[in-house]
Amino acid sequence: MKPKSQIVHLPVYKPGKPIEEVKRELGLSEVIKLASNENPYGSSKLVHDVIQKELAHLSLYPDGSAGELTADLAAHLGVQKDQIIFGAGSDEVIALIARAFLIHGDETIMADQTFSVYKSNADIEGAVSIEVPLVNGTHDLEGMLSKVTARTKIIWVCNPNNPTGTIITHDELVSFMDRVPSDVMVVLDEAYYEYVTDESYPETVPMLQQYNNLVILRTFSKIYGLASLRIGYGVGQPEVISLINQVREPFNTTRFGQIAARAALRDQDFVKACRDKNREGITYLQAEFDRLGLHYFPSQGNFVLVHIGKPAAEMFDALLRQGIIIRPGFQVYPDYIRVSVGTPEQNEAFVKALEHALNPERSEV
Ligand SMILES: Cc1ncc(COP(=O)(O)O)c(C=O)c1O
Repeated sequence: MKPKSQIVHLPVYKPGKPIEEVKRELGLSEVIKLASNENPYGSSKLVHDVIQKELAHLSLYPDGSAGELTADLAAHLGVQKDQIIFGAGSDEVIALIARAFLIHGDETIMADQTFSVYKSNADIEGAVSIEVPLVNGTHDLEGMLSKVTARTKIIWVCNPNNPTGTIITHDELVSFMDRVPSDVMVVLDEAYYEYVTDESYPETVPMLQQYNNLVILRTFSKIYGLASLRIGYGVGQPEVISLINQVREPFNTTRFGQIAARAALRDQDFVKACRDKNREGITYLQAEFDRLGLHYFPSQGNFVLVHIGKPAAEMFDALLRQGIIIRPGFQVYPDYIRVSVGTPEQNEAFVKALEHALNPERSEV
């Protein structure tokens, strides 16, 4: 058989290690997973109620166009319904954009250390990824602009950036958008939008009126706590959304995902409470890293990338043995680990385990 040549050496995506696997392998009863930027507070109670009721409809296909959810979200965002597309997570929206817009030999620009799904989807379509080094963990928008050629189709900007947690500001984004050629799509991935507390962070939905080439991605997986239900979305011009819709599978999101997202949207108190608790967690972790003399990037997400001064894989193992799962394996930052913000108890357990791993003879477990 003859697979597409560009996928033959594509690695399979490695997600954070599942809790059950770690418990089984190490014989641990308590395991804390701070590896996949999940919401440690779960999801809104309103979601649990609607999920119970939805069990009666397991045999029915979902509404392929997610009509009711689209109407709710359009009202929530202040956009038209035909400006929204849903995917099985924003992961799928990324794949759909690549499928709709990229062909062999196209160029697509992204940071050298960012969410890996942009590059893997560009690879699948045979496009060339131009990776622009981050500067101090932040997107180098000028550097990205300087790489635009006649072949450039898409620029991916992850804001806040995963894994560094850094943001680009409103002014930086406007200055960038003003200079990107209008036929080059800018995909602004705002998976962590709801967590941001920095006032210089751009409010991008109103910018859609000015920039026809802007597509915004958000998700219900992070602050809304619905990662297992796989529902995320893109917002853009109707013409662009329509093209992406043309390559979408008919029933790409589930009834559970749609109904849960509708309920989750109604509970903005839950969102605010999670944002506040996350900010306290970030403040706590950053203060502890300061105390331990560890460099970190100032994060506006629900995770922090911290320098541990040894190969991240070693630290991963040392923490795993203490029942804590974090995320190692960032090519540009081989001696950093990414830790998701947990509950206060989880954060304290992580810091204790980290201290022990850094200084086994000096600290108690
Ligand atoms: C920056 C970024 N974008 C998109 C996603 C995909 O999220 P989902 O497919 O669950 O919506 C993630 C998940 O970690 C992410 O970090």
